[in-house]
Amino acid sequence: MTSPYIHETVKTVHHWNDTLFSFTTTRHAGLRFKTGQFVMIGLMINHKPLVRAYSIVSAHYEEQLEFYSIKVQDGPLTSHLQHLKPGDTLLISRKPTGSLVLDNLKPGKRLYLLSTGTGLAPFMSVVRDPEFYDAFENIILTHGVRVVSELGYHDYLTNELPNNEFFGEQVRQQLIYYPTVTRETFRNQGRLTDLIESGSLFRDIGMPELNPDQDRVMICGSPAMLKDLVALLQARGFVEGTSNQPGDYVIERAFVEK
Ligand code: A2P
Repeated sequence: MTSPYIHETVKTVHHWNDTLFSFTTTRHAGLRFKTGQFVMIGLMINHKPLVRAYSIVSAHYEEQLEFYSIKVQDGPLTSHLQHLKPGDTLLISRKPTGSLVLDNLKPGKRLYLLSTGTGLAPFMSVVRDPEFYDAFENIILTHGVRVVSELGYHDYLTNELPNNEFFGEQVRQQLIYYPTVTRETFRNQGRLTDLIESGSLFRDIGMPELNPDQDRVMICGSPAMLKDLVALLQARGFVEGTSNQPGDYVIERAFVEK
């Protein structure tokens, strides 16, 4: 019987701070995924596979796979995963899946990517997919975190991505990166929900208030954040999209381990 998991090799590990890290692995040639999807990844623990859902950070055309994770000291998987080092083996499921895909959205003018914490992960793949820049006039990537050190990929998004040799031009013209911090001083402060309700977000980025006629939204974050943002969108007439019925917004829980 074929194993449900592909065995990949860890290539690099980056620790952002005490609570967050990311890592890259080799990628089996047969592993195809759509931008925004997730896979189950994990380790053999006591001779059994222990896996959790992780959104793919890397772009669909990249040779390697990348993941972004929290570290939970007594977390069943992340207590082990945080000690990964180059050369280690990682189990990866063969069938990527998930709802944060372009096909689930109706055409629109602007795409809002609303994330908190490790919910940024699938959107790192989105902002590196030229298809999204062709589909929307603007892409607004928001990332809400508690403290500045939790703004993973901040330097990459600010300095490297706009200089990408293939689509840096589109990034410079179309991508708006809007990080916001709630428990420390930063240039943007407050919860995404509050910034949307008050209109500060739209004033800061020079865009009109959210409107289902023109805007499409992808959301990835904690259950509380998803619930509040979905209520806010529904109050403005946004309808959830599915693969059968594309809509105005799609959601995915950031796969935080309890
Ligand atoms: P806050 O500091 O006010 O709780 P967490 O690490 O708990 O997942 O939070 C990540 C970020 O999401 C924090 O900035 C947090 O703000 C914010 N947040 C928590 N709950 C919500 C919510 N219901 N709606 C919007 N943002 C939220």
